Order: sequence, then C-alpha cells, then structure tokens
Amino acid sequence: MSQSLDERHVLDVLERFPYWLHALRGASPGQVARYAASMLGGARWFSWPYDGPPAALVALQDAPWDSDKLGVKSARIYVAVPPGAHGGAAELVARTLATLDGEGYRYLVTRLDANDLQVVQLLEQAGFIVVDAILSQYVRPAEAPAPAAPADVAVRQVGADDGDALGVLAADAFTMSRFHSDPAIGVELGRAIYRDWGTNLAFGLNDVTLVAELDGAIAGFLSCKDMAGARSAYGFGYGRIELVAVAATKRGRGVVAALTARLFEDATARAWEVLGIGTQIANVRAIRAYQHVGFAPGDSIFTLRRRV
Ligand SMILES: CC(C)(COP(=O)(O)OP(=O)(O)OC[C@H]1O[C@@H](n2cnc3c(N)ncnc32)[C@H](O)[C@@H]1OP(=O)(O)O)[C@@H](O)C(=O)NCCC(=O)NCCS
Repeated sequence: MSQSLDERHVLDVLERFPYWLHALRGASPGQVARYAASMLGGARWFSWPYDGPPAALVALQDAPWDSDKLGVKSARIYVAVPPGAHGGAAELVARTLATLDGEGYRYLVTRLDANDLQVVQLLEQAGFIVVDAILSQYVRPAEAPAPAAPADVAVRQVGADDGDALGVLAADAFTMSRFHSDPAIGVELGRAIYRDWGTNLAFGLNDVTLVAELDGAIAGFLSCKDMAGARSAYGFGYGRIELVAVAATKRGRGVVAALTARLFEDATARAWEVLGIGTQIANVRAIRAYQHVGFAPGDSIFTLRRRV
C-alpha cells in the first residue's frame, strides 16, 4: 500500500536527508529538498512509520521507457532515510517491495549516493544488485576557461537527418551502463537501447544536442538537458549532459573540447550557471576528458536494480 503525504512532511524528510542524488555543492538543505521534491512530482509514496509523520520515505515513479525496452513492468524508486530513521528502513523497504511485487513490478531501479552505504547494503539484502557506479563532475561555464577547440572540428545543432548516424554511433561507443552491465540485460540489448536513445536525440529528446564533424563525417555528439526545478529551487539554471560520444577512430583529437566549447556558449544563452555530467567510474578516459575542459568531481552514486 502507498500513502498520500502532506508536501510539508515530504520536504521535512528530504531536508533531513543528507544524500539526495547530485545535490549541488554549497546548496542549503532547504534548496536541495525543494529540488528533490521537484523531481518527484507524481510519485507514489511509502513511508515509515506507518502512523504519524514520516521519518523515512520511498518514492516510486513508473518507468514506461524501461518497461518498453525490458518487456517487464518497471519503476524507479528513490529511498530517503535520514539519520535517526535507519531503525525503520528495513521494514519500510520490505513493505514497499511486498506491495510492488504484488502489483506485478518486475524491474526496480534506484540510485543512491555512494555515502549512503547503509541503505545500499539494505537493498542488497533485499535482492538488489549494483549495476553501475557513476562519478558526477560539474563546471560553472562562466568561471571556466573556454575549452581549446581544434580548428578542424566543426560543431552544429543536431538535425532530424542525423538520427540514424547518432543511433549507430551511440550503439558502438557506449560499452558501460546499467543495461550493459546487468547480467539479465547484457551487451546486445544494451547496444539496442543506446541505438534508440542516440536516434531519439535527433528528434528533440533533450534541450541541446550538438553534433561534431571532422574529416567530412560525424565524429561525435553531446546532448544536454535542462534540469527542471533547478531555477526555482536554486535560483539558477542547471544543465545536465546526458550523453557524449566520440567515434572510436576520432578519439584523442579534441572533439570533446570542441563540443564543450559550443555548449558553454549555449549555456550562457540558456542561463545554465552549472553544467553536470555523470560518468561510469570505470570510464577513466571520459573522466579525464571532462577534467580537461574544466569539470571537477562533485558526487558519486551507485545504481542498483532488483529483478523478480
Ligand atoms: C569519453 C570520450 C567521449 C572521450 O573522447 P576522447 O576524444 O577520447 O577524449 P580526449 O582525447 O579529449 O581525452 C581522453 C583522455 O583520456 C586519456 N585516455 C585515453 N585512453 C585511456 C584509457 N584507456 N584509460 C585512461 N585514460 C585514457 C587520454 O590520454 C586523455 O587524457 P590525457 O590528455 O590526460 O592523456 C570517448 O572516449 C568516447 O566516446 N567513449 C565512449 C562513450 C563514452 O564513454 N562516453 C562518455 C560517457 S559520460
């Protein structure tokens, strides 16, 4: 069973929860709680204790894209257990999972800050496995030097004609993800999912998608999304880079720098004061590429999933 909760109670728990995903450095607990709440619009809530004001929460959002790709009823969950509430966390998780199993959910995915290890371990005991670990890096473009874009790389906005090329590039380039690394999903389906994802970039999936050309062919792309809710919670815009790839034969030639230099210009136009990107911690090449253009580490998370 899930509960309808007073927004004030939700904000109260979120304000006491120190590990909300990708909380920006320097933001106050109240700002982070408002940002978190903005991401949880339409969520179903499970809380502990069952009677009285909540001390710990689970939020659930259906994941229709995952359901479609994986062929099973899927949802994202968010677990917020503030200090002092861990005594109820096991009961909260068990009750939530029993309800969701009964409703036919077969794939649940969640992300947790890497500091939130007590809850990571609790979910492992409840049948979740780690399928991904991500380092987030951030930059304030107005304060960073412009990346040194090589003259031979041309950058433009994506067009609908780019769909197939971006799909192929994404399928080939991405080898690590919560799909590729999931023994129940695997590389073949992971590639197909990234192919569709890449193709969709050409049809307005995100707010800014840039394409780089080198030697007369598409060499890479970068796609960035406006994080709705940041403006009201933090008082400034925040863009999150969702996908970046460079064709294997074009790596090491400054394509990331060229794409990022152009993104910094777009960031000014869109009032994105902060840009963020998440990279698998095993993907040292990507982490270094982003450090070269001014990004610095901000937070790290685990992705876990439970499949029944
Ligand atoms: C990540 C990616 C976009 C970077 O593009 P790139 O053209 O290779 O980037 P750069 O050449 O600018 O920088 C790569 C850095 O990693 C280093 N590097 C190269 N291979 C490496 C490896 N196997 N291990 C560690 N570092 C490596 C490079 O030397 C360079 O750092 P340095 O200049 O300090 O030596 C590209 O490799 C790619 O498309 N990878 C597959 C998709 C992907 O992982 N996307 C990012 C997800 S966030």
